[in-house]
Amino acid sequence: MLYPETLNVNEHGHLTIGGCDTVELANRYGTPLYVMDENVIRKALRDYKKSIDENYQNGGMVAYASKACCFKEICRIVMQEGCGIDVVSGGELYTAMQVGFPAERIYFHGNNKTVAELRMALDYGVGRIVVDNITELHLLSEIAASMEKTADIYLRITPGIEAHTHDFIKTGQIDSKFGITLENGDALNAVKTATELIGISLKGLHCHIGSQIFDEQPFIHAAEVMLNFIAQIREQTGVVLNELNLGGGFGVRYTDKDSPKEYSEYMRLVSAVLNEKAEKLNLPVPYIVIEPGRSIVAPAGITLYTVGSIKEIPGIRSYLSIDGGMTDNPRYALYKSPYTAVVANKADRPADCVYTIAGRCCESGDLIQENIKLQRCQRGDILAVLTTGAYNYSMSSNYNRIPRPAVVMVRDGVSRIVVKAESYEDLVRNDI
Ligand code: LLP
Repeated sequence: MLYPETLNVNEHGHLTIGGCDTVELANRYGTPLYVMDENVIRKALRDYKKSIDENYQNGGMVAYASKACCFKEICRIVMQEGCGIDVVSGGELYTAMQVGFPAERIYFHGNNKTVAELRMALDYGVGRIVVDNITELHLLSEIAASMEKTADIYLRITPGIEAHTHDFIKTGQIDSKFGITLENGDALNAVKTATELIGISLKGLHCHIGSQIFDEQPFIHAAEVMLNFIAQIREQTGVVLNELNLGGGFGVRYTDKDSPKEYSEYMRLVSAVLNEKAEKLNLPVPYIVIEPGRSIVAPAGITLYTVGSIKEIPGIRSYLSIDGGMTDNPRYALYKSPYTAVVANKADRPADCVYTIAGRCCESGDLIQENIKLQRCQRGDILAVLTTGAYNYSMSSNYNRIPRPAVVMVRDGVSRIVVKAESYEDLVRNDI
């Protein structure tokens, strides 16, 4: 396995992350434990930002999709790097507001935002509300007008593109709960309506085709489709939209089987087509917004567990039970997502045993990975599951009343807690 660049093995044969010994981290903070390398997050944000600056003459914005991993310190890091943030709920918006995230760099998504959330967004003055459907467009117009405000919006368009990824994380095809359909004319009608409604100022368009995508073609195709639509809007209404949000979705390496391109390469390929197409259509190159989530945080994170029971069923398989599971990482249970794991205190030994990693929930499907190769294990070993920085903490739950683990941030050999572990007291806090 080609480890993410933050990982290494030290002279004790222990796995390290961001210069910190993972066995020491486990001893100091307890397990399960989410660990993230701040430098990896900052580098990814900078690389994306640089690609935007290099490839688009009219500039753009990297808006981190905070659904991938949202807590205050991540919001601070994104803010400090001069990036924007994509939020999809009052809760994510609130987290960004708590760190004083500049409102103009916030993009507010969601296919069924509540009245309270829309009010909250308008009160805070978020930069762009991404309107998902016609019902929401009318609702937002009413709310904005009643507050004597104008909502700066994008319309989310479903461009009709099939991306090769898991069905649950595809979003660009016509049969999707997200966005306004392009093919049947709904999108053009929505644009016309948006330009007429009070309290609404249409600034541009948005699309997002899915997540964990490696092939550049669907990204290129989506950009072309959207630019053609901008040209069609100009023809039919005279309105020239000059902001285009192309969403996120760039794939990351979970195992040896994944081979993502450098993100700068995706950016270069998409921008080349977009710039050329704009010239052909005699359109200004739009201000480009991208919303990467997974690719910014996934490679920065690992999860540490302590190995408990080991059960060998001869001729069947060996179960290795850990002190976490689907409550801190539901992605295998949900999508059968592949992961790489390593025994952190034996990282220099050969991975020549086959185990199924089981969580501790009362649920047979509570697995992290099935039949993967690991170093020979015994009770008390520390297991590291790699590339867990995205959609793990953010999708965690309290099933079986299991408290959420802490998140520790490491940087150049120094560690600090950025999210405290939940206590039993936290679990009953809202119980009457
Ligand atoms: N923008 C929009 C509008 C999105 O819906 C998403 C992801 C993103 C950006 C960020 O996509 P990314 O760069 O992270 O691929 N829970 C699933 C992933 C769901 C993605 C939902 N939307 C998983 O664990 O794989």
